[in-house]
Amino acid sequence: MIPIAVLVSGCGTNLQALIDAGEAGILCAGKIALVISSNPAAYALKRAEQYHIPGIVVEPKSYSSPAAYNHAILGVLEAQGIGLVVLAGFLGILGTPVIQAYTQRIINIHPSLLPAFGGRGFYGLKVHEAALARGVKITGATVHYVDERVDGGEIILQKAVEVWEGDTPETLQKRVMQEAEWQLLPAAVELVCRKRER
Ligand code: GRF
Repeated sequence: MIPIAVLVSGCGTNLQALIDAGEAGILCAGKIALVISSNPAAYALKRAEQYHIPGIVVEPKSYSSPAAYNHAILGVLEAQGIGLVVLAGFLGILGTPVIQAYTQRIINIHPSLLPAFGGRGFYGLKVHEAALARGVKITGATVHYVDERVDGGEIILQKAVEVWEGDTPETLQKRVMQEAEWQLLPAAVELVCRKRER
C-alpha cells in the first residue's frame, strides 16, 4: 500500500473523491496518509479532519523564498515516507528539488483536455473561461505526471465532457468535476499506485 500525500489549497472536492474511492474499495493500492494545504482556511483541511487524516499547513508566505518553501514540503514528504504526491487543486508551485526527488511520483489533475488551456495562468475558473471564449464543444479533465513544465508532464488519463449552449464558467466547471474529475483522479491514483507496487 503506497502512502499518499494530497496537496490542496481550496475546497477539496477532489480530495473527497479520493477519500470516497478509498472507502468504496476503488482506491486500494494506495492510502491517503497526509493532507498538506498551502492555505490555512482551505475547506479541504476540514474534510481531512473529519476522516482522521493528518492535515498540515505549509504556507508559502511563511518562508523567505520558494526554495525554503520547497525544502519544507520535501522534508515533510520524506519524513512521512510518502510514495506518491497528488496535487488536487494545489495552487503552490513545486520546484526542482521536490520534482526531482519525486520523479514520476507526483501527479496533478487539470480541468481541461491538455494541452488545450494549460500552462501558466490557467487555473480554476480561468480554464473554463478560456474554453468558453474559444468556443470548444468538448472539454474535460486530464491527470498527468508533474515535471518542470507547467501542465506539461506525461498524460496518464483523460476524460471528455460536452460543453452546452449557455454554459457559464461555473456551470462548466461543475460538469467537468462531476462527469470527469471525481472519477478520473481516483482511477489514475489507483493505476499509478499499482504500477509502483510492482
Ligand atoms: C479542480 O478543478 C482541479 O482540476 C483544479 O482545481 C480544482 C480544485 O477543486 N486543479 P477542489 O479543491 O478539488 O474542489
